[in-house]
Amino acid sequence: MTLFKRALQFSLLACWSGLLVMTAPAAHAQSTAASDEVFQGMGGKPGIEKIVQIFLPIVLADDRIKDSFKDTDMERLGTLLAEQFCHLGGGPCKYSGKDMKTAHEDFIITNAQFNALAEDLQLAMEEYGVPSRIQNKLIAKLAPMQREVVTK
Ligand code: HEM
Repeated sequence: MTLFKRALQFSLLACWSGLLVMTAPAAHAQSTAASDEVFQGMGGKPGIEKIVQIFLPIVLADDRIKDSFKDTDMERLGTLLAEQFCHLGGGPCKYSGKDMKTAHEDFIITNAQFNALAEDLQLAMEEYGVPSRIQNKLIAKLAPMQREVVTK
């Protein structure tokens, strides 16, 4: 499934939840998510580290994107991705890497490659057993980075 479809699915879901909240106040308390919901849903720091460990080999085996990483220090990238996912998920982490535009500006990255990487991340989360609702929330947090990462 493309990132766009995921985002659409997520916004439709968000619309529905909005309607439910308006029509059923009792449901509101139940649907209020903790600010670290995504962090917790990914299994906290150990879960995120494991997801990244599953994710990077998937990326390196993916013909659509693997060439981009031929000169990359994958251990450093893994550490930075874990920090970033933890921070985005509302967890107690600080991201210490470059901003997304600076990190990717020397590469030629297409929308199709961005979607491929997002798909690989979903595969990794699926393999680790992250609930789809949490997967969608992390993907939705990454979606706005598309315009900073895509260079072509
Ligand atoms: C939401 C999507 C993405 C996120 C969150 C992301 C995140 C990151 C992070 C955190 C870094 C490390 C930054 C640093 O060096 O300080 C990085 C580097 C890198 N990213 Fe991405 N990235 C994304 C998409 C992509 C895509 C689609 C490609 C190519 C297909 C790509 C290729 C690279 C490469 C090659 C590096 C390493 C640069 C180097 O070796 O210095 N990224 N990315």
